[in-house]
Amino acid sequence: MCGISGIVHSENFGRNLLNSIRNLEYRGYDSCGVAVIQNGKIDLRKNIGGIDDVNLKERLDQMQGKIGIAHTRWATHGSVTQENAHPHLSANRKFAVVHNGIISNYQQLRERLLSEGVCFESLTDTEVFVNLLEKSFAESNDLEQAFLTALQQIEGSFSIVMLSSHDPEHLYCVKKESPLLLGLGEGCNYVGSDINAFLEYTRKAVVLDEGEYVILGPNDYQIRSLKTGKKVNKSVLQIDWDLETSKKGGYSHYMLKEIFDEPQTVRQAMQIPKEQISAIAEMFDGSSRSYLMGVGTTYYVACISQYYISTIADRYYSALSSDEFSVVDIHKGDMVLAISQSGETYDTKTALVNAKDCGAQTAAIVNVMGSTISMMVDHVIMQGSGPEICVVSTKAALAQTFIMVRVALELGLIRGRITKKVYQKYQRDLEEFPEIVEKILNEQSGFVRNIARDTSHVEHWLFLGCGVYYPVAMESALKMKEVTYQHAEGMPAGFLKHGTLSMVESAVHSLFFVPPPEQKELHERTLIAMEQVKSRGGTVIALIFQGDDRAQGLASQSVKIPPVSTLFAPLIQMIIAQMFAYYAALDLGRNIDKPRNLAKSVTVG
Ligand code: G6P
Repeated sequence: MCGISGIVHSENFGRNLLNSIRNLEYRGYDSCGVAVIQNGKIDLRKNIGGIDDVNLKERLDQMQGKIGIAHTRWATHGSVTQENAHPHLSANRKFAVVHNGIISNYQQLRERLLSEGVCFESLTDTEVFVNLLEKSFAESNDLEQAFLTALQQIEGSFSIVMLSSHDPEHLYCVKKESPLLLGLGEGCNYVGSDINAFLEYTRKAVVLDEGEYVILGPNDYQIRSLKTGKKVNKSVLQIDWDLETSKKGGYSHYMLKEIFDEPQTVRQAMQIPKEQISAIAEMFDGSSRSYLMGVGTTYYVACISQYYISTIADRYYSALSSDEFSVVDIHKGDMVLAISQSGETYDTKTALVNAKDCGAQTAAIVNVMGSTISMMVDHVIMQGSGPEICVVSTKAALAQTFIMVRVALELGLIRGRITKKVYQKYQRDLEEFPEIVEKILNEQSGFVRNIARDTSHVEHWLFLGCGVYYPVAMESALKMKEVTYQHAEGMPAGFLKHGTLSMVESAVHSLFFVPPPEQKELHERTLIAMEQVKSRGGTVIALIFQGDDRAQGLASQSVKIPPVSTLFAPLIQMIIAQMFAYYAALDLGRNIDKPRNLAKSVTVG
């Protein structure tokens, strides 16, 4: 799991190669490196740290030329060391390789190569592959043949880009289970793990499919199937992401910028044609059993969706974390909806493959165009949220939830659980939502910031809610953990008294997600739990709706949200909690856009 990138230029690519891995840094950032051909030889520089650190140590910005590869790493095989960073060189230094994924049989291959006298500098699976290349080339003296022979020997999942001084005009690339795309420019072509690698330079992309390899020159490219060796003709995708949305645009962090992108993100989600939304509702309606699936934040989006579908459409679908999906016995006629920002998450991909093998219908909500999940399902909704660079998901998660509310409404209508009139009222609410989000962000951020500052020292949080506010609380607790590294536990407010209440004392803070008072039953249940915490000396912070004096009376501090449709009250609280986590992390001086130990796109198991 990493970011890989390569450029072949007819003149000089300048700093574009370095910029390209900078734009992929969110995929992994524990070490990085660049290899270019200069004066017929491979110049390799790499080290541990983020791109800017390594650039200072190794002067990567001086590494220019016509052809090069680069890599930003999130360690899987071998710890974070300079030797284990990519690119990796073969023993004779004539081949360099960057790799994303796992070569599962690398141990056997490594032992074989060791017995043949090969010396390794690193502990990585990638260095095994690059030495296989050298060996294969020695036998065939043909670069394409050597690439294929080496590939035949490896198993697992991998995207690989190879650079060789034997052919300074072409990069050799292959895709199997890990993402890889081409970017087509003028007198210059690109390859990268995702669109961000080349979005600054070209809007034309070609998405590689499983088992395809490419020989990429500055003005030409040839894609072939690994299996048949036959040439494959592919369509060129026009990328419509706005470049500006992938920049920080004056905000101190991508996380904050992406939270403030949310009104626009929701507008985009509203523009998804109704037919695409109904198609998913119909798939649900026509299936014998349905499941909602995601992992990390997208699992919580699935949980929130479960509540919306249950209350609006009177259908209960299990929400499952993709990594636990194997507990389900899937049958023909079942339906699985996957939610994934990146469209590349290993756990979600694996669960989908199994579901398909068992004959299930599959659908997905995905943000990244051309991603594996978007291509493998029967029906996909592209959420159109634009690049999300901060590792923690904010705008993408909100848009996914909004889309699922739309799905719930379509399903409610199809199943006759809501009338046309109610449906239309909700549609009007949906249309007003982007403006409400804008207003909330502008008006509430100051209040949220103050409370976050006052409480950033708190080491233990309980995030509590009832009904749909419960999965909102869980997602918000995850956000808090991800960016502040403080302990936050999301749970149903009514569950608290069955054990966790014993922890409560003044140092343990509880954040309550209080529904608007008109949601009487949920509101009442939440207030009971607030009283339980308060009366045990716990500190109560609350997200409440204006005019809720009872809730305000129970809280030591509260964010007072202007009244909104109950349809959206949970989503508004989700946004406030995102800001809350952001400002707490800011106060604690955390690495907000790239929290320790995490990566945005986890493409390994
Ligand atoms: C990683 C990220 C999480 C994210 C999860 C699912 O674990 O660190 O923030 O929620 O992957 O990612 P996806 O791209 O499938 O939504």
